[in-house]
Amino acid sequence: MSAPKLPNGPQTHPWVQTYQWLTNPLEYMEACAKRYGDIFTLRIGPVFTPQVFISNPQAIQQIFTTDPKQLDSGEPAGIKSPLLGKQSLLALEGKPHQRQRKLLTPPLHGERMLAYGQLTREITEQVISQWLVGESFSVLPSMQAISLEVILKAVFGLVDGPRFEKLREVLLKILNPKQPFVRAMMLVFPSLQRDLGSWSPWGKFLRLREQMDELIYAEIRYASGGLRLHKQQPDPSRTDILSLMMAARDEEGQPMTDVELRDELITLLVAGHETTATTLAWALYWIHHLPQVREKLLQEIDSLGENPDPNAILRLPYLSAVCSETLRLYPVAMLALNRLVKSPLEIMGYQLNPGTVVIPCIYLTHHREDLYPQSKQFKPERFLERQFTSSEYLPFGGGNRRCIGMAFALFEMKVVLATVLSRWQMELADSKPVQPARKGVLLVPGGGVQMMVTGKREQNQAGRETSLV
Ligand code: HEM
Repeated sequence: MSAPKLPNGPQTHPWVQTYQWLTNPLEYMEACAKRYGDIFTLRIGPVFTPQVFISNPQAIQQIFTTDPKQLDSGEPAGIKSPLLGKQSLLALEGKPHQRQRKLLTPPLHGERMLAYGQLTREITEQVISQWLVGESFSVLPSMQAISLEVILKAVFGLVDGPRFEKLREVLLKILNPKQPFVRAMMLVFPSLQRDLGSWSPWGKFLRLREQMDELIYAEIRYASGGLRLHKQQPDPSRTDILSLMMAARDEEGQPMTDVELRDELITLLVAGHETTATTLAWALYWIHHLPQVREKLLQEIDSLGENPDPNAILRLPYLSAVCSETLRLYPVAMLALNRLVKSPLEIMGYQLNPGTVVIPCIYLTHHREDLYPQSKQFKPERFLERQFTSSEYLPFGGGNRRCIGMAFALFEMKVVLATVLSRWQMELADSKPVQPARKGVLLVPGGGVQMMVTGKREQNQAGRETSLV
């Protein structure tokens, strides 16, 4: 008997499945996993082709190690965006994807990345200095302000001034549309993409994108000292990621084109800004929801003394465990990217035909009771007591698509958290547990995490809190 072609799944109409997925993604996935196990098929819009959700670590391992010629993400797997562009790492596949990843990897890792520690701390200090003692506020917008500024300065190489302000203003408009639902529908259904003038939603989007592109291309020209020839002679005094990308060469000695530079800059911004900010808001929630976690974390951070070296912050074991557990419990990306089957592939006894979409399900894998007992509880100790493989713990996905900003995001998160916790004594403004909510493709804390600053922290040598305002 030949292997069955598709795993089981709900038999409801695809529109019903789409509705359930959009309105209640966690409950829907959990109900499907309970009924069908760790591999099931959904048909959700706008494509309605079979999408196989997988939360079995062995199968995920297989996906991450299968040759991209047989199984890959990118535009054919449905990842396309009029904002990111065709040269975006997310849209590319095969050889061009591999080439672009090679060029982008060094600037986001190692020594180069560590150089952004001080910058991240300064930006955090500046943003949180505006918090007022005794006033309740939503912490998410502050985290968004920090992560946007870190990207604009570390990645785009901007400094404070009119160019920085202008780009930030346009980006904020394009990233936070006034009518997010209308924007999402337009991106999903190309038939709605009609330019009916500057007042129509699509027309507005196109004009904003044009403004943004002009500013980004101006930055690319500026980084090259106004000379296109610069790509052969990068300015050695600049250490931002744009300059490093401009200096990079592929195996044939070719630099990235201006369009490639533009598409990658905007991709790093879109993929890195909201994800990091949201995870920081979740982390601040858990740290203040559980007093024993905060206590233990403060002891560890205080042991480094005042203004610690960002590299020492990076290595703190309990802080690392808190970040890992934050990304496990409500991973900001519920799913890894779609992978499209290109030639017949057998997974867990199913024979998948070309055209099937396979999705490693991060959320369900992170809630397997065999791996994470009492999975709904926040317990950083899990990560001190045992090591998880890259297919058991996968907040950044894996294989040839693993998040290229992983090291950057983790470093930024640790420096921001250590800075916030050492400066302010805070508490949650609302004792009700925060619930996860869907925002586009992300899982965010509903309500943005309301907090209140209760005083300033100062530490003595022994690392105790000595004074509160
Ligand atoms: C907490 C923060 C972040 C999380 C949880 C996260 C998560 C992810 C996930 C799940 C993927 C898909 C991986 C897969 O399908 O195997 C991904 C891809 C990607 N991420 Fe991140 N990310 C974060 C921050 C960042 C940052 C800071 C940057 C850039 C500075 C970034 C850039 C990218 C890019 C370019 C890709 C596409 C990689 C490719 O297609 O080859 N991410 N990320």
